[in-house]
Amino acid sequence: MHVIVNGVRVGYEVDGHGPPVVLIHGFPLNRSMWRPQIEALRDRFTMIVPDLRGFGESDVPEENLTLDTYAGDVLGLLDALGHQRVALGGLSMGGYVVFRILARAASRIGKVIIADSRAGADSDEGRERRYAAIKRIRTQGPEGFLGEFTAQLVGPTTKARRPAVMSATKQIVGSPPAASLVAALSAMATRPDSRPLLASVTVPTLVVVGEEDTITPPAAAEEIASGVRDGRLVTIPDAGHMSSLEAPDAFNRAVREFLEAQVPPA
Ligand code: MLT
Repeated sequence: MHVIVNGVRVGYEVDGHGPPVVLIHGFPLNRSMWRPQIEALRDRFTMIVPDLRGFGESDVPEENLTLDTYAGDVLGLLDALGHQRVALGGLSMGGYVVFRILARAASRIGKVIIADSRAGADSDEGRERRYAAIKRIRTQGPEGFLGEFTAQLVGPTTKARRPAVMSATKQIVGSPPAASLVAALSAMATRPDSRPLLASVTVPTLVVVGEEDTITPPAAAEEIASGVRDGRLVTIPDAGHMSSLEAPDAFNRAVREFLEAQVPPA
């Protein structure tokens, strides 16, 4: 499915019934990474998963973007679907987008889920790595970068014991266009520090992190959970940065328990 939002096509999927829950994918993935969550939660919630601009079925950007562009697209999708207030979650880059939505439309968010992400901006070193990746993609094409980056997404336990998850992750990543990767890397490199925002987040917030996440490690998750007013932290053992795919049962249990709290019975 898709809608035209802010002049671009935004792919999305809606499945299930009950209170609306929006989940935003990480980089360089797309909405299909949320299949295990949709299947586990659609009996109780209306699951809405967008493709960020440039990924999945959404239009490829013609220029570099900011995280606010992605945030505007998600808000536009909510308008198009008629949802004024939702539970909003995101994994990694999806979490960065959640922070931008909280910055501009906090009243539309009833609950927050941040998975394997961080509130701070890139370090100088991290930013340099993004610009080196952009240069590499522009000169050599995306394949080499994508292969190396995707290998880092999952943790050592998954690499050693769950080859099917590793290949599923590669399959979900697929081959996004160079322009989409460059636009997203540039948006992440220039994203603002969202730590000053944390104290203003008063709605219930679930922070989930894979114990073996090296991209956005458990310390980054703790910073978010302790910085917001009503935060709870769930650390998932034997999982890396893609905790939702690597340990879907533990991830879904945590999310379901969190979302069901204070939700009237169906
Ligand atoms: C992601 O998973 O979305 C990215 O790894 C985030 C990042 O590179 O900071």
